[in-house]
Amino acid sequence: MTKDNNYACRTALIIGGCRGIGRAIAIRLAKDGFDIIATARNSGTHSENLNNEICACGRKFTLLTFDVRDRDATAAAFAPLTENPPDVVVYNSGIAKDNLFVFMTPEEWDDVMDTNIDGFYHTVQPLIFGMMARKSGRIIIISSASGQTGQAGQVNYSASKAALIGAAKALAREIGKKGILVNVVAPGFIATEMTEHIPTDKVLPLIPLNRAGAPEEVAGAVSFLCGPDSSYIHGQVIPVNGGLVI
Ligand SMILES: NC(=O)c1ccc[n+]([C@@H]2O[C@H](COP(=O)([O-])OP(=O)(O)OC[C@H]3O[C@@H](n4cnc5c(N)ncnc54)[C@H](OP(=O)(O)O)[C@@H]3O)[C@@H](O)[C@H]2O)c1
Repeated sequence: MTKDNNYACRTALIIGGCRGIGRAIAIRLAKDGFDIIATARNSGTHSENLNNEICACGRKFTLLTFDVRDRDATAAAFAPLTENPPDVVVYNSGIAKDNLFVFMTPEEWDDVMDTNIDGFYHTVQPLIFGMMARKSGRIIIISSASGQTGQAGQVNYSASKAALIGAAKALAREIGKKGILVNVVAPGFIATEMTEHIPTDKVLPLIPLNRAGAPEEVAGAVSFLCGPDSSYIHGQVIPVNGGLVI
């Protein structure tokens, strides 16, 4: 057990937990004292590096590999978790396939919806019964500022991220009385592989803090939502966006 362990023997599942924001969340929650289960589509360098970082925090690391779009593969990977689900579930998997709606292809629409929305159902729904039976838990869903305000060129992505906010609010109303807190974190412009192709000179003037966010700054909000100081925060959207949306 690490010295600063506030959450002894607890487990956090980060769906999409080996790269970018998900990786930062995994490391932060390990530092908070959670054992970590992270998912990725493949094992490889990202998961090996993460394993080393989590172990360096004195916590246990488990990798599950599957594609969240695949309901059967998800069910198979999660079978060992359904009876005794993790204390914390973070739905972070997500993709963007940007295009103006007038040119948007069926593949661009379907890929984003299948990953961002269907993936949420495939992964989180099977865990709910066990969490309700245990009468505790935290669910954090990673949405986006685009889901709050809409973003030109991102009709598919904005729709999927707005849908996650709606899903979180509805779920919060369903299972709050079972002691499970459900909240959303909505990042703005965060420096990861997802945003590396976006010209910063076009985006930064829109951000009052005039910089991209770091994945660790999103992870800090998730850490707060998993901790004791957020015990009366439920059904909310926490923005981490440098003022992009005010
Ligand atoms: N970066 C930003 O500015 C920003 C802003 C707002 C919201 N967000 C949201 O934050 C989340 C993380 O984004 P990021 O910036 O860290 O992007 P990223 O570096 O591209 O990471 C994407 C994550 O989603 C997972 N993923 C994608 N497709 C998947 C699939 N079919 N099955 C399973 N996992 C899949 C990836 O897993 P693999 O390891 O298998 O690839 C990876 O963990 C996303 O939901 C994104 O929409 C990001």
